[in-house]
Amino acid sequence: MALAYERYLQDVLIDEAALQKRIAELGAQISQDYADCQDLLLLCILKGGVMFLSDLSRHIQAPHMIDFMAASSYGLGARQASGSVRIDMDLRMDVKGKHVLVVEDIIDSGHTLSFVIKTLRNREPASLRLCALLNKQSRREVDIQVDYIGFDIENKYVFGYGLDLDERFRNLPFVGVARLDALVDE
Ligand code: IMP
Ligand code: MG
Repeated sequence: MALAYERYLQDVLIDEAALQKRIAELGAQISQDYADCQDLLLLCILKGGVMFLSDLSRHIQAPHMIDFMAASSYGLGARQASGSVRIDMDLRMDVKGKHVLVVEDIIDSGHTLSFVIKTLRNREPASLRLCALLNKQSRREVDIQVDYIGFDIENKYVFGYGLDLDERFRNLPFVGVARLDALVDE
């Protein structure tokens, strides 16, 4: 029997082994960069960043806290980002004086992260860096500095490993390209 996601999948872009290998590398790099840091906070942007955070966190040797924040762009359809972003759920912790590393699934136009960064900067963290699993550089509309990138990918709609296709399939252990006909709203 065909698995539920198969009819939406064009092809697997990054398989489980490649994802896990790259995440281990990122974790090693972050462990080095924050080796002497006592107050590192991994801030996961929900919902897409949740798988990445949980795997990445296990590869980071430096003691760290985790917290969550939800942000969304609105104004256009579900799969198109617009310039308007809002915080749907703020984090619990006070970031003041902490070394904050934002963990995000994918950067597309950059509007979401740019807004999140501005919001966090006003709260005076000791430092603020960004880590994104996927980066669609060709789609960028606002300039943001991303300190750690898992994979640069082409401008295609992807899902799996935290990323959704109409809120489903975040649980897949790989990142796949969606079939174009799966993106037509039913
Ligand atoms: P941005 O504000 O345009 O950078 O959009 C970032 C957000 O849009 C991401 O955090 C994702 O939630 C969502 N997004 C962008 N591209 C994709 C994709 O290819 N698949 C799933 N979600 C995506
Ligand atoms: Mg996201």
